[in-house]
Amino acid sequence: MTRRIAARRSPIHGNGVFALVDIPKGTELIEYRGKRLTHAQADRLYANTSETGHTFLFTLNDRYVIDANFEGNIARWINHSCAPNCRAVLEEDAGGDARKDRVLIEATRALRAGEELTYDYGIVLEERLTSKLKQIWACRCGAPKCVGTMLKPKRKPVAKTAAKKKVARKA
Ligand SMILES: C[S@@+](CC[C@H](N)C(=O)[O-])C[C@H]1O[C@@H](n2cnc3c(N)ncnc32)[C@H](O)[C@@H]1O
Ligand SMILES: [Zn+2]
Repeated sequence: MTRRIAARRSPIHGNGVFALVDIPKGTELIEYRGKRLTHAQADRLYANTSETGHTFLFTLNDRYVIDANFEGNIARWINHSCAPNCRAVLEEDAGGDARKDRVLIEATRALRAGEELTYDYGIVLEERLTSKLKQIWACRCGAPKCVGTMLKPKRKPVAKTAAKKKVARKA
């Protein structure tokens, strides 16, 4: 199959991923691959790296985080936007094995060749949002309605649903 997407330098940040051809809405583009770490393992491994706001971690579920620093593919270069054209969908393992859950990146609208792929990282931090944290996690997506941060307000607890497709959150 012709390659539909590729990584190159992005005006948003560092590397990004771009459509090489026109892509229809709803297309499943790529899996966010990487090594499975437990939350405790990820906390230990990246304890001293919270000063930059740079992460290849993706929260998979209550037990695991995907670490695209290891065994990752080009999905790890997809940037965040406040006006995204893709979304991250959680595909739960049919056998209930949380380690085998997967995250798939899907186009939420038709993409033109040359457009950068983006999704909403949906990052929620547990700590109080200080001005330093807001600076670290500043958003540079360039969307007219950019909210200026990649962070979301803390979530209130919600009941778990049996929905098959869930929008997944990055970290
Ligand atoms: C998974 S990486 C994406 C690839 C990244 N551009 C790179 O070259 O490493 C995620 C990191 O990219 C940066 N990033 C992604 N979207 C951004 C945005 N809208 N504004 C500012 N930085 C962004 C942040 O440092 C974030 O932690
Ligand atoms: Zn933004």
